[in-house]
Amino acid sequence: MNLIVVKDYEAMSRKAADIFSALLTLKRDCVLGLATGSTPVGMYKELQRRNRNGEISFKDVKTVNLDEYYPISPDNEQSYRHFMNENLFNHVDINLSNTHVLNGLAEDPDKECAEYDALIDSLGGIDLQVLGIGRNGHIGFNEPDEFLVPVTHKTKLTESTIEANSRFFASLDEVPRYSLTMGMGSILKARKIIILVSGKEKKEAARRMMEGVLDTRCPASFLSLHPDVTVIATEDAV
Ligand code: PGA
Repeated sequence: MNLIVVKDYEAMSRKAADIFSALLTLKRDCVLGLATGSTPVGMYKELQRRNRNGEISFKDVKTVNLDEYYPISPDNEQSYRHFMNENLFNHVDINLSNTHVLNGLAEDPDKECAEYDALIDSLGGIDLQVLGIGRNGHIGFNEPDEFLVPVTHKTKLTESTIEANSRFFASLDEVPRYSLTMGMGSILKARKIIILVSGKEKKEAARRMMEGVLDTRCPASFLSLHPDVTVIATEDAV
């Protein structure tokens, strides 16, 4: 893994935006793998700014998102579809029909997941995948467990994730108990991966991710199998 250490959150966001901008310049019709959570918000803001300035364009870009709660309506303010619209898509020149987020209301979630992997393949695969990491080492909703499912799948949220994410909901009971998530295998098919790590509470997860040992109790450790992963970490996270 290639490690870039930066001073703070702003520097991390700019560095990540630089990598996105370089790709958007080289390949206008690239496929971006996007993530939600508080970590990439600064990067999305920076991308919005560069798009407004005319430095980059999303006109021919296609996107696929890592995960979505289940069940949840795309109109729900806590849905990841809503997050992406608010934090990026509504503010840049992207064609919304080229943006893909797993359907949190799918009647047949297994079918939805299988079709999502097929969709990614049909787009030609992901050129650049951005990731955050959970304090427990999760990636997307691939939670620490005895076994990991490699393909896109429906999964149960752990109690710690339900609790961590409850800060966005009116109450703990409103947090959906399931999610649909790309599996570690689907993620590892991306041609290039960047993972953003900010803050001292992520330090232990970052250490385990970069330890060079595969551990299903730290799904992020499987990223070490990929030939092109760049970790962009703030000073206090490493
Ligand atoms: P965060 O979440 O960016 O809000 O810290 C990251 C994650 O849980 O994947």
